[in-house]
Amino acid sequence: MKTIIALSLLAAQVAYAKPVFVTIGQDANKSMTKNFKSAKSLYSNHGVSVMEIDDSQIESLSHYMHEEFHRCGGFMVHDSQAEAIETVNNQVERETASKGFFADYQINQNSLVEEMLKEVNEFEIRTMISKLESFHNRFYKAPTGVESSNWIMSKWQEISAARSDVKVESFKHANWPQPSIILTIEGSELPNEIVVIGGHADSISGQFGGASARAPGADDNASGVATFTEVLRVLMASNFKPKRSIQFMAYAAEEVGLLGSKEIAQKYKREGKTVIGVMQLDMTNFHGSARKNLDIVMMNDFTNAAQNEFLGRIIDTYVKVPWGYSKCGYGCSDHASWHGQGYPASMPFESTMEDINKKIHTPNDLLSNSREAIHAEKFARMAVAFAVEMAN
Ligand code: BES
Ligand code: ZN
Repeated sequence: MKTIIALSLLAAQVAYAKPVFVTIGQDANKSMTKNFKSAKSLYSNHGVSVMEIDDSQIESLSHYMHEEFHRCGGFMVHDSQAEAIETVNNQVERETASKGFFADYQINQNSLVEEMLKEVNEFEIRTMISKLESFHNRFYKAPTGVESSNWIMSKWQEISAARSDVKVESFKHANWPQPSIILTIEGSELPNEIVVIGGHADSISGQFGGASARAPGADDNASGVATFTEVLRVLMASNFKPKRSIQFMAYAAEEVGLLGSKEIAQKYKREGKTVIGVMQLDMTNFHGSARKNLDIVMMNDFTNAAQNEFLGRIIDTYVKVPWGYSKCGYGCSDHASWHGQGYPASMPFESTMEDINKKIHTPNDLLSNSREAIHAEKFARMAVAFAVEMAN
């Protein structure tokens, strides 16, 4: 077996390659530099190393880790050295974010939740998706990217106008014009404990994106924003006054590397804010796994296991639809920004990763591909229940 590995390593080393950055257990560091000619150790912390290696050797590295260390994978590949180093430095935060307990995860608001669920309205979600897809695009650097986020802000102001305990703010980012929008319902008893429900407001299209490309982004992610805007509308219509604070966030610049949410999560960490739960709604209206009889699929990477399990019980209790697990395999959306700062996040998604909507990031990501907003409505029901159970 060893000779076969050695031969394939040699073959791989001959091929042309560009350097990539991997994070890997520090115990594998020494033998790796010995066995892989191109490997260089760059940095270590918390028992994890950042190494540079030719990308042609990634496959051999995978075999090698399996044979020598009996680990499947056992390493992660990163686009840049900076990203790899950040991952290593945030190792402790990520452990806590994955395995920690941040709430009691009890379900005991049944009559209140059931009453509110009667108010959830598919047509409201559909109408908002339709409005958002009508912007030429919502690109983070385009004028329509700014206009569409400002439109979300005025929509939220209108919905919450009657409430003195609710404020809507525009979160400005230094390096691009599109703001993130944050709405806060101030908690009546524990205002410093925060529940976050969010998703990205921006859209992108084409290989190089660009400020002029048509990017309706109906599923990705007008659907998520419209879904939690309906949650907000239902909470307001029910005159719900939560004990803890609830924040709704429409993030800027997700499609270009989770930039908006990363700035927000870093600021919350820096300021020592207590976020007891984050729900990310990114793509809720394409029923891709219908044939597998799956409605809500929870991503189990870059998320919190206890909160995911709690969400499963929320779905069983209040939404009563089949749900399951899948994984992105990388930090695919804004929940990863919160996860990286040590906060507990969940990402309930419209389908499994194998059944994803192939129209996203094209001019054809339109509401007309879905049957109204029937799928998204299930997510709105789940998120209403999550908000009430977490905040009270
Ligand atoms: N909504 C997608 C993420 C997604 C797509 C999750 C398909 C699950 C299935 C998101 O807006 C996106 O496109 N993310 C980027 C990564 C990000 C770091 C730029 C992606 O997946 O390429
Ligand atoms: Zn998205």
